Amino acid sequence: MNYYYITGTSKGIGKAFAEYLLENPSNNVIGMSRECSIKHKNYRHFYLDLTVANQISDFTFELHANAKKIFLINNAGTLGFIKPVGKLDAETIIKSYTLNLIAPCILTNAFMNCYESSDAEKVIVNISSGAGKNPIDGWAVYCASKAGLDMFSRVVDTEQKIRATHPTENIHRGFNIFSIAPGVVNTNMQDQIRTSTKENFSRIADFFGYKENDTLSEPKDISKKYFDVLSDIKNIKEVLSSIKDY
Ligand SMILES: NC(=O)c1ccc[n+]([C@@H]2O[C@H](COP(=O)([O-])OP(=O)(O)OC[C@H]3O[C@@H](n4cnc5c(N)ncnc54)[C@H](OP(=O)(O)O)[C@@H]3O)[C@@H](O)[C@H]2O)c1
Repeated sequence: MNYYYITGTSKGIGKAFAEYLLENPSNNVIGMSRECSIKHKNYRHFYLDLTVANQISDFTFELHANAKKIFLINNAGTLGFIKPVGKLDAETIIKSYTLNLIAPCILTNAFMNCYESSDAEKVIVNISSGAGKNPIDGWAVYCASKAGLDMFSRVVDTEQKIRATHPTENIHRGFNIFSIAPGVVNTNMQDQIRTSTKENFSRIADFFGYKENDTLSEPKDISKKYFDVLSDIKNIKEVLSSIKDY
């Protein structure tokens, strides 16, 4: 059996990931978000608010003795408020960093601790963004949190490569980690961007254009692409990539 822990499965990309995986009866999905919108015999939901530190740290991964694959997909994310720095509020800054960066770090740490001795294929996928590589006005906290997620992924990958060279440590299979951006996808996040104003976000017209010109990918299509790529992780040469690269 395969086990996929996914944050943010109630809508958007995370929900599409879960639905895609659940088409295969060998897959079990464990979802985490504040709401639940999936009913399936191989799906379990944890009602978690991942902006609340102790709800993240109290989450425990289960040992799956029969597992062939165990994945953690850190997908839940928020833009927070779309406003320039100086106009943000402290609570939204704290919650956005907690959801976008602290939750993935805590969950990845717990995941790696739990499955250290497992011989399953163990993969962490962080859903990153082009915004982690390029500054976008009005999105400072989002950009910085996604840049942090990319660097966290690179450090974990470096640690795993060092570990693999150490003969006594290399008893069990190591972990693979990838930070993969989805491109622009037709979800609530894009709806939110279009409710912004030119005053708070200079590029708003581009994002209306993505919707009007059908440039947005559909979550269902993006899911298939992610799992086609992830079906053989040897295809993935870099820790950081975009799904458009494949
Ligand atoms: N859509 C795009 O164009 C795009 C582009 C680049 C990167 N991304 C990234 O892709 C990922 C998914 O985005 P999306 O577009 O699918 O967004 P979305 O449609 O807004 O869905 C966000 C998901 O995150 C969950 N979430 C939000 N706040 C949460 C909280 N406090 N606790 C637990 N879960 C929470 C939501 O569930 P609840 O509300 O039920 O809690 C929901 O399931 C994000 O990391 C985003 O940064 C998206």
